[in-house]
This record gives sequence, C-alpha cells and structure tokens, in this order.
Amino acid sequence: MVRMMNAAKKGIFYGIGVGPGDPDLLTVKAAKVLDACDMVITPVKKMGSTSVAFEIVKSHISDLSKVIEMNFPMISLSQEREALQKQWQENADEIEVLLNQGKDVAFITLGDPMVFSTYSYVMEYLLKRDIEVITLSGVPSFCNLGAQLNIPLTQGEESLGIVAMTQPIEEIRAILDAHQNIVVMKISANNAWMAEELEARGLEKSFVLVSNIGMETQQVVRDIEVLKGKIPYLSTLLIKKNYPLQ
Ligand SMILES: C[S@@+](CC[C@H](N)C(=O)[O-])C[C@H]1O[C@@H](n2cnc3c(N)ncnc32)[C@H](O)[C@@H]1O
Repeated sequence: MVRMMNAAKKGIFYGIGVGPGDPDLLTVKAAKVLDACDMVITPVKKMGSTSVAFEIVKSHISDLSKVIEMNFPMISLSQEREALQKQWQENADEIEVLLNQGKDVAFITLGDPMVFSTYSYVMEYLLKRDIEVITLSGVPSFCNLGAQLNIPLTQGEESLGIVAMTQPIEEIRAILDAHQNIVVMKISANNAWMAEELEARGLEKSFVLVSNIGMETQQVVRDIEVLKGKIPYLSTLLIKKNYPLQ
C-alpha cells in the first residue's frame, strides 16, 4: 500500500495529427492537449532541420521551450528496416524516460497519425511498455485535397483505394484496376512512372495532383507532362475514373 502511494504517476503519451498544412485545421482537442502537455516532440529528418508538423502547430504551443526535436531519418523501410527499428526503439526509450518522470508528452505528426506515419511505429513500442497512449485524429492530406478542390473522394457505391508510390508496382497496378477512385501518396517516389501508367490506361485527364496542400505554396496540377517532371515530396495524387477532373 505504502509502495503504491509512493509510486510516481507516469505521464500520458499523446499522438497528435496536425493536418496537412493549414494551422486552423488542428482539432480543438489537439490544441488543448498541446497547450497543456509538458513536452512536445517534433520529428525531424535530421537534427536541426525544419519540421513541417512544428511549423503548422507552433502558434498553438504557448511555451516553445518545451519542444524537443527527435530524429526520424527518411530512409526506406523495405531497404533499411534494421536501422529504422533501432532508431524508433531509441526514440521510444527517450520518450519513456520523460513519461516515467510523470510528464505528459505530445508527439506531433503531419496529417492523421494513423495514415503512413512514423508516429505509429513509436506508438507500438510504447504500447508494449504499459504506457497510456491517446491518439488524436488529424485531417489526412488526401481528405483536405478533396475539400480544397470541392471534389468528392467517393460517392454512392464507389470504392476508394489508398496506396503509396513506394509499394511494389504490381500492388499499385492491382489497386488501379480495382477502384474507381484512387489516392496515391508519396507520389514523388516514382511520379514519372505513374504518368506513363495513366496514359497507358487512357486516364491522362482523370487525375489531379496537389502539392503542399493547405500551405501558401499549394499547387494544383492537371497537366500530365508536369506529372512527369520533378514534384515536391508533399504531393498527393487523386485519380477518379468516372468524374470530370479536367
Ligand atoms: C509520411 S506520409 C504522411 C501522411 C499523413 N499522415 C496524412 O495523413 O496525410 C507523407 C505523404 O503524405 C502526403 N502529404 C502529407 N502532407 C501533405 C501536403 N500538405 N500536401 C500534399 N501531400 C501531403 C504526401 O503524399 C506525402 O508524400
């Protein structure tokens, strides 16, 4: 009993989706947690580099000194799984130390935390360690793409396929075959291939590409020739087989 009373209370680990770019898209709940928590972790590709997630939410963090950068290198999961797992584990260890000190820790992540997010890997390590984890949804980039352009992602009986351009080509082709509407994330990994695939399928007028959604630099592309060139990493492609996009 005495031991229980003396046992320090662990902090809560929050995963916070910050949306794709517009700071006003942060949920009210996320803004409250960011303001109240003790530490905010911001993932960076390299220590000292800028974090898009941080740029989106910084106006919602009252005390910027509680922000800690954490390194999440942008390397391929299929090719460098071991190095990535080692890094995630080290990051989880660092977070656990803070939680054991009773601090509530928020981890900010672009878009929604459950869509292609490194947050999800760290979350899995911490869930195994008897830590309370609360994940707060954010607006996924592809949902905001539809909203910004007033284009429905799905209607009626239609299906929506979501794929990352980093997946094997055969998987991508199967998704293209199976759905009327397809979202392609991480499209910059092989956009020229996709442009040629769309032409081969007669879909060269059935796509829209949006880069830097919700940011001042947002760009909307409907020209297949532009899809063949260099595009920003923060680009998402929407293909709609039965809807006039152009
Ligand atoms: C690591 S994933 C993160 C996805 C994020 N969790 C989400 O819910 O949108 C990165 C990919 O998300 C998409 N993305 C994220 N933010 C974006 C933005 N502001 N504009 C366009 N695409 C974006 C791009 O396809 C990018 O390659």
